[in-house]
Amino acid sequence: MQVTTRRPMVAGNWKMNGDTSLIKTMQSTLAQADLSNMDWVICPPMPLLGLFDKSTKLGSQNVSQFDSGAHTGETSTSLLKEVGCQYVIIGHSERRQDNHESDQLIAEKVKKTLDAGLTPIFCFGEPESVRDDGSLFEYLSAQLDAVLEVIGISAFADLVMAYEPIWAIGTGKTASPEQAQEVHAFVRDYLAKQDANIAQQQVILYGGSVKGSNADELFSQPDVDGGLIGGASLKPDDFLSICLAANKLG
Ligand code: 13P
Repeated sequence: MQVTTRRPMVAGNWKMNGDTSLIKTMQSTLAQADLSNMDWVICPPMPLLGLFDKSTKLGSQNVSQFDSGAHTGETSTSLLKEVGCQYVIIGHSERRQDNHESDQLIAEKVKKTLDAGLTPIFCFGEPESVRDDGSLFEYLSAQLDAVLEVIGISAFADLVMAYEPIWAIGTGKTASPEQAQEVHAFVRDYLAKQDANIAQQQVILYGGSVKGSNADELFSQPDVDGGLIGGASLKPDDFLSICLAANKLG
């Protein structure tokens, strides 16, 4: 039997929200707690990245696939590193939808991020129609395959995955713990076909209407290693409860 050393993690995706005052209250709220068994990460909008204490782990919500040059509005991996970023959310459904990011572009960005020594938080997940028409696992495997083909299974050791069913994002309609577990176990088995050890160590977060009130039961599922949090990551007390739920797993 393999020993699992997966470290629980909670990442707050502030999306296009937050300001300097939220940075202060978030940092002071979380500093009060013992969260030594888990990692918490804040992914604020780009202009706020440089304004956090050095002790806060930071992620960006996007990255360019290019190194530098004439790409107005884009941010490179090296600029993210300059402002102390360690993680990059890639493949979020809002960017897939609003910015027409394809599976191929997402795979390219994952590779670029890994090459720069940053940790991608690779997001995948289905719209409700896919669940309804019975093609859930085919749909998810296509999203995973696009990245697997470009970076290979061994590189999965250096990234975090986040399952975010689109129908559960910002809707208050959380996946049930059983629905989350079913997909997380599927993903782990899918990776295990290529490398059992990497699959066993793979951190897989759940995202979609996670709150302080439902984090415990979601995170208690055997293949759920923490969460990627939207709305509740803007409320310091709620975010702290979620982090404490993850800390209990460690
Ligand atoms: P909510 O927690 O607001 O549903 O958002 C989830 C999400 O999209 C995190 O990336």
